[in-house]
Amino acid sequence: MSLLLFSIAAALLLYVFIYYTLFRGAKCTSQTQLRGKTAIVTGANTGIGKATALGLAKRGARVILACRSKERAEAAVLDIRRESGNNQVLFMPLDLSRLQSVRDFVETFLKTEPRLDFLINNAGVVSPGRTHEGFGMEFGVNHLGHFLLTLLLLDRLKQCAPSRIVTVASRAHLMGDIDFALLDSTKDLVRGERNLTTDLKAYSHSKLCNVLFTRELANQLEGSNVSCFSLHPGVIKTEIGRNLSRWFEILITPIAALFFLDAEGGAQTTLHCVLQEGLEPLSGRYFSDCAVAQVSAKARDDALAKKLWEVSERLSGVTAPPTE
Ligand SMILES: NC(=O)c1ccc[n+]([C@@H]2O[C@H](COP(=O)([O-])OP(=O)(O)OC[C@H]3O[C@@H](n4cnc5c(N)ncnc54)[C@H](OP(=O)(O)O)[C@@H]3O)[C@@H](O)[C@H]2O)c1
Ligand SMILES: *[C@@H]1O[C@H](CO)[C@@H](O)[C@H](O)[C@H]1NC(C)=O
Ligand SMILES: *[C@@H]1O[C@H](CO)[C@@H](O)[C@H](O)[C@H]1NC(C)=O
Ligand SMILES: *[C@@H]1O[C@H](CO)[C@@H](O)[C@H](O)[C@H]1NC(C)=O
Repeated sequence: MSLLLFSIAAALLLYVFIYYTLFRGAKCTSQTQLRGKTAIVTGANTGIGKATALGLAKRGARVILACRSKERAEAAVLDIRRESGNNQVLFMPLDLSRLQSVRDFVETFLKTEPRLDFLINNAGVVSPGRTHEGFGMEFGVNHLGHFLLTLLLLDRLKQCAPSRIVTVASRAHLMGDIDFALLDSTKDLVRGERNLTTDLKAYSHSKLCNVLFTRELANQLEGSNVSCFSLHPGVIKTEIGRNLSRWFEILITPIAALFFLDAEGGAQTTLHCVLQEGLEPLSGRYFSDCAVAQVSAKARDDALAKKLWEVSERLSGVTAPPTE
């Protein structure tokens, strides 16, 4: 009997210890209000993006949900309006897996919205499959689509400075690498047939791209009063695993129930990077738990960041005039 009680107590202690050391996140404490400011959040119909959009709406911002599914996004618009009491929340179609859709989104946005104060590159996938242009899904959506989106919106962000660009990366970037020769020949960051292992590798590589993109973007934005940050949101219960194998889902569900944070917890570091005053000198850096964090050696490699920038310019066709 006492052995049983002892075991239960030990298990509880272990749980609390693991939870507090590995999973518990920090909270954004900024009191900044956003009335009169406009934010775009990509992938805002669910998960961390939806919680981020809600946080911004509660502070009075005008929030554009940039999403690929009209149905899912309009349901989220209604939820966010109801929960925040802010009616300045709207949907604009954006499919990051089609470069033309990115261009169309920007054209509509620039025509109908006078301001842009915050761009939040949040959407992300782990999934086999290819984008419209034939890129691996993670590289195409997580990095290249956001690269094009950001560059096409830069002039407006500069006009509205001080403004910020926040890109949701991941701790997974620690395992990331970029094989430019492979990218050139296969349009993907991983070799061979897709399976759970290669999907997760492609994801890690794309998240390294997010961190490197932000690093080089900060260089390019020097003196513009537009600052940019990348971040790890924590380990969060969302739909991110939906395109992975069933076995992975069965394995991860109980662990997620015990340890992972909810989406509101997952939005805190993004909100910190948007709202916290005085972060400008840290432009280009990577955050975790609402504080600057270390990145991998590869993610500090300026030559790699520059190379990725040049390759992304070419692959996204950003310098090409828009097609009518
Ligand atoms: N959850 C975690 O533990 C975790 C950890 C580290 C980093 N992150 C990062 O956090 C970000 C948000 O992920 P989440 O966990 O909230 O995942 P999620 O629940 O799966 O949400 C992802 C969002 O991205 C959207 N999206 C996917 N493909 C798109 C496309 N082609 N065009 C436009 N939007 C697209 C999804 O739209 P649909 O609903 O239409 O598919 C959805 O709104 C991602 O960048 C992810 O890499 C998450
Ligand atoms: C996944 O695919 C890669 C490349 O095709 C292969 O090397 C690896 O053995 C596969 N792994 C599993 C678990 O099937
Ligand atoms: C940036 O902000 C500073 C301080 O507000 C201002 O003096 C400067 O002119 C701004 N620079 C640009 C390029 O807008
Ligand atoms: C992933 O799965 C969802 C739902 O099961 C599906 O709608 C989507 O097209 C799949 N692919 C990607 C890249 O998200």
